[in-house]
Amino acid sequence: MGIYRLFAKGINYLAGRGLQKNKIAIAGSLDFLHRSRKIDSNYFDYIRLATLELVSEEIKQKQLQGEVAELGVYKGKFARYINSYFPERNLYLFDTFEGFDKRDVSVEQKQNFSSGAQDFSDTSVEAVLKQMPFPEKCIPLKGFFPQTAEGIEKRFVFVSLDADLYEPIYAGLRFFYPKLERGGYIFIHDFNNDAYKGARKAVEQFCSEENIGFVPIPDSGGSAIISK
Ligand SMILES: C[S@@+](CC[C@H](N)C(=O)[O-])C[C@H]1O[C@@H](n2cnc3c(N)ncnc32)[C@H](O)[C@@H]1O
Repeated sequence: MGIYRLFAKGINYLAGRGLQKNKIAIAGSLDFLHRSRKIDSNYFDYIRLATLELVSEEIKQKQLQGEVAELGVYKGKFARYINSYFPERNLYLFDTFEGFDKRDVSVEQKQNFSSGAQDFSDTSVEAVLKQMPFPEKCIPLKGFFPQTAEGIEKRFVFVSLDADLYEPIYAGLRFFYPKLERGGYIFIHDFNNDAYKGARKAVEQFCSEENIGFVPIPDSGGSAIISK
């Protein structure tokens, strides 16, 4: 980890601890839930986590039926929260668990979307499952997406697409959107991230082809959200 990232992590940690200690919330939008909450000082992306919590409540209130999924799990940092906010639903976890696939990287480089050089290979299915609050609800699908999704005919209420690169994100939208329940949500990480220009391209292309809208949100990864 570079010195800058280490420094930023330290600031995040201290800010999170300080807010927690002084019981300061960044926004009051979750107060209506009347729940005590801890700000996770190791994962200081309040907007992403709070938005996930809010949409999980909407899905619960609408009593939607269906599963949840993440494409691009890595060590399970975000998947852990999906699992905790949807404890009764199966959580499909799609990842190579060995980092980017060279077929996707080759498209990235040809289109000048990104270098595709980041290494996400230091993880495993076992390590991810170990930190899940409800591992019995997790269905890990190790390998190249979309191949690993072949034959899955489930309905989904929430999907996180966090695969960074154009090809898997576009394939994820093509696979999940038709299976998304009305009232469900798809989060796409990195939509407004200059380091991964393919994420925006995949969302814009898909939404234009399907004539649907999306909402960009100001979380730390620059996510966009599609709802049905
Ligand atoms: C940024 S990481 C995911 C971060 C994770 N959501 C978190 O909360 O920390 C991107 C992940 O996408 C996975 N990935 C990218 N393309 C893929 C593909 N075609 N099939 C399966 N996994 C893929 C990589 O292996 C990597 O683990």
